[in-house]
Amino acid sequence: MKDLIKKLTEAYGPSGFEDGIRDMVRAEIEGHVDELSVDAMGNLVAFKKGDGTGRKVMIAAHLDEIGVMVTHITEKGYLRFTNIGGVHAKTLLGSRVQFADGTIGVIYSDKNGDRHKVLPIDKHYIDVGASSREDCPVQVGDAAGFVDTFFENGNRIVAKSMDDRIGVVMGIEILRAGYRPMHDLYMVFSVQEEVGVRGAQAAANYIQPEVGIAIDVTSTGDMLNGPEMAVDLGKGPAIKAKDSGMISHVGLVRLMKKRAADAGIPYQIEVLVGGSTDARAMQLAGPGSIAGCVSVPCRYVHSRSETADIRDVENGIKLFREILTKPIDL
Ligand code: CO
Ligand code: ZN
Repeated sequence: MKDLIKKLTEAYGPSGFEDGIRDMVRAEIEGHVDELSVDAMGNLVAFKKGDGTGRKVMIAAHLDEIGVMVTHITEKGYLRFTNIGGVHAKTLLGSRVQFADGTIGVIYSDKNGDRHKVLPIDKHYIDVGASSREDCPVQVGDAAGFVDTFFENGNRIVAKSMDDRIGVVMGIEILRAGYRPMHDLYMVFSVQEEVGVRGAQAAANYIQPEVGIAIDVTSTGDMLNGPEMAVDLGKGPAIKAKDSGMISHVGLVRLMKKRAADAGIPYQIEVLVGGSTDARAMQLAGPGSIAGCVSVPCRYVHSRSETADIRDVENGIKLFREILTKPIDL
């Protein structure tokens, strides 16, 4: 599984530019599902038929990652850019970004009189090695993702776009696990989550699941001088109670806790003060659905070193087996 995590976290795929990462995921699950389709927005929908006694369940993990888009090219060939999703200006200086064609650039900022001050995003630029607008290999409107390599620190796994490629890996592993789910399962590898859960919204409106569960990352309370939050790395997948966009269905939370406890799987309860997930889109789609989220605890979200714990990933995959092979009676 770690090879797959490395491959997918290092891959390119900012919101709206998920074609390449989608093809990679499709290749991993072909032959393991009953149907596979791509909708107009670019969501990859994998269907696995249940045993006929269950419910209609949609699980969503997003393919896209935060990134940047070129807004202007200067005469000397530097690129001004805007953010795609929640990019923090303080993470930019010295970062490398990569475009779809493989072009790599370095981000730096305008002259900064006070080096303790972080300049806003529009005072940064990308240097792709061009010396004029004419010889610049990149165009206005091109998108780039950040570049960094995956590595392991014991049980810790570190990568850019762990958000949400780790959820994508879990989705792939759930489909490849070999068991037949009780429920009709629509595993959606969604697009454009980082810009407002847009892909999942379209997919959920079409699929109209009875039950919708997102797999995504959440922040933790175990960072030095970080926020107070009852989620730590390595203490189990987090069952979301609430984030800033959704209150999980209490019955589904209760059921997921019971499934975890009965199987001896460690878990935590997540209350996230900022941010939301595809679960919000599923909850509000069509006539509404029973929605919840299983989160992978992750430090340093939206930096190039998003840090998770492999045991939480493994336990999350086990928890989904319990959910998908037993009744969802709320
Ligand atoms: Co995110
Ligand atoms: Zn995410």
